[in-house]
Amino acid sequence: MPDLYRSIAPILRLLPPESAHRLTLRALAWIPLPAPTADDPILGIRLWGRDFPNPVGLAAGFDKDAEVADEGLRLGFGFVEVGTITPRPQPGNPRPRLFRLPADEAAINRLGFNSRGLAAAAARLQRRADPAARRGIVGVNLGINRDSADAAADYAAGATALAPLADYLAINVSSPNTPGLRALQGRDPLTRLIGAVQAARAAATLRNPPPLLLKIAPDLTEADRRDIAEVALATGIDGLIVANTTLARPLALRGRHAGEAGGLSGRPLFRPSTELLADMYRLTGGRLPLVGVGGIAGGADAYAKIRAGASLVQLYTALIYQGPGLVGRIKRELAAALRADGCASLAEAVGADRARR
Ligand SMILES: Cc1cc2nc3c(=O)[nH]c(=O)nc-3n(C[C@H](O)[C@H](O)[C@H](O)COP(=O)(O)O)c2cc1C
Repeated sequence: MPDLYRSIAPILRLLPPESAHRLTLRALAWIPLPAPTADDPILGIRLWGRDFPNPVGLAAGFDKDAEVADEGLRLGFGFVEVGTITPRPQPGNPRPRLFRLPADEAAINRLGFNSRGLAAAAARLQRRADPAARRGIVGVNLGINRDSADAAADYAAGATALAPLADYLAINVSSPNTPGLRALQGRDPLTRLIGAVQAARAAATLRNPPPLLLKIAPDLTEADRRDIAEVALATGIDGLIVANTTLARPLALRGRHAGEAGGLSGRPLFRPSTELLADMYRLTGGRLPLVGVGGIAGGADAYAKIRAGASLVQLYTALIYQGPGLVGRIKRELAAALRADGCASLAEAVGADRARR
């Protein structure tokens, strides 16, 4: 795939970003990919009773409708998160709504949860629900419809439909492109929301329920962070994904689309999202597995997230610029970094920066 990618990359770059993305999804679905080689055992980690062969995941938004989950795993990712999936199908915002900022190795999107809805995603995931066909860990990221009258009911509907088909569920309360969504990160709405989803999950999966994670925004005050950590621990949620795209616009951005509205991802998000990750690790006392995401473009970035407190990491934007060869490179560099620091396993490095302070 990396070789093939090198030959089509120039074409992808000439296409509008969303067309390039559609073509990439088609290519992944059409081209038979070889099974990835086994991962270096030092990269394995066990969380929530599940064995992750490596900690590098494909972040939500790449495969919104669960079209290429298994192909994503075949690229070498240790897990894939599909979605965001909304209860009913909806088109999202008018185009253009996705912009490349190559000079900044960044992107801005205001897709607004374009989704084919729960029924379509369930049908696709059902096809891989047979344990024999189930080759790896696929999480499902849940959202709400733009015209939703009851956000908690929307997330609960997602859990009801997809908990039986997911290796984990993620509640996305952090996209900047659905009005009012981020307000759900407040203490009271969040507590109610998590309770409703936990109840739906329990009813839908009597045995072996998937862990429930919460994906948060990078643009949070100190008080917001404390509230989220407290709610997370009090409700017994299983983990946090830190973080979604940012509304902030660092002054140093050079790309001509820097002024577009939407969420910024990629390199400029690395520092703020890693600082937030370290903060959430501190505020939760290391008691909750964290997934570090934002601006990872190499093994050193992934390692920094792990040392800041992440047990798993995810990426998306760097794939746009570096292609699928990036996954193998990050894994090699991460394994080398762990060995150089004398770690026998990935778990030993989780939160190491804080432990040594
Ligand atoms: C085009 C695009 C679409 C995205 N869509 C979603 C989404 O549907 N749900 C979600 O939780 N995050 C979404 N994200 C955010 C990513 O999952 C990730 O949190 C963010 O991009 C930071 O990681 P990165 O810098 O490696 O891209 C999207 C990001 C991009 C670039």
